[in-house]
Amino acid sequence: MAEEGPRGHVYVARLLTDDAMAALAALGRPLVVGEERPPTAEELRRDAVGAAAIVCTLTERIDAAVLDAAGPRLRLVANVAVGYDNVDVAAARERGVVVTNTPGVLDDATADLAFGLLLATTRRIAEGDRLVRSGQPWVWGPTMMTGLDISAGVTLGIVGYGRIGRAMARRARGFGMRLLATPTRSELSDEDAAGVTFLALPDLLADADVVTLHVPLTPETHHLIDDGALGRMRPTAVLVNTARGGIVDTDALVRALQEGRLGGAGLDVYEGEPDVDPRLRALDRVVLTPHLGSAGDRTRSAMCLLAVRNVAEVLAGRPPVTPV
Ligand code: GLV
Repeated sequence: MAEEGPRGHVYVARLLTDDAMAALAALGRPLVVGEERPPTAEELRRDAVGAAAIVCTLTERIDAAVLDAAGPRLRLVANVAVGYDNVDVAAARERGVVVTNTPGVLDDATADLAFGLLLATTRRIAEGDRLVRSGQPWVWGPTMMTGLDISAGVTLGIVGYGRIGRAMARRARGFGMRLLATPTRSELSDEDAAGVTFLALPDLLADADVVTLHVPLTPETHHLIDDGALGRMRPTAVLVNTARGGIVDTDALVRALQEGRLGGAGLDVYEGEPDVDPRLRALDRVVLTPHLGSAGDRTRSAMCLLAVRNVAEVLAGRPPVTPV
């Protein structure tokens, strides 16, 4: 049993941006504020006791144990992320707790990073950086470190044509790429539909030079990219993942890369994050970033402020701004 904490407070599991912390303080509610690092599971349960709202990030797992530790005063879990696979939404619903996320404010930042990984991988930017830093001698040569000419009609396959997938398409159009996407039920504007061929996943995988993932992690998308999916991709193709690590079967990805059945990968997210499989670190045609998708300075601020708005609305008895 967690020890008794203050009552009716807002528990902020990790320090947010300064503007969001100021907005939280302005709510006039008692605050229990975590640190820059993620809380341990024990700290999380302890500081949640008696909370009216929990503001968490994707590094906190909000499960039935945390919800029960918080107890009956809990009205809201405000996740500072668009993905909410870290929150047991069904358990929250059962307890009458609203869950909110931060959609819409991070689409461009995430697509920028995904496009950066696309370029870094296809044009071997990180590999080139490592070569120059190594101090090994090198000299320009006609065939030295050539990569994909992405503006020469290279095909981008977008898996998940939601907000971030569509932001990716906007960038790709500017580079003259051919566009494929998995079908979507959303109504698309003419601009978003322009030039996109919608294909079922197996056909998209077979036809794309670069595959970029923009689906949420759910039981249905867990290991969506497995041995079978990778086997459909071209041996020269590149996979970009800025969504969630669990969408890709890491073992299958490592095997495909090691055996030359895949051209490369640009990864921002990992199974078992923040650990990164050492076999991935050993592969040259892989570009690895530490979950930076939404790490634009304004974007992070907008995410934190949106979470605080959700807290303000729900604790004032009004509907949340962005419920999941
Ligand atoms: C980041 O990964 C997010 O889901 O917002």
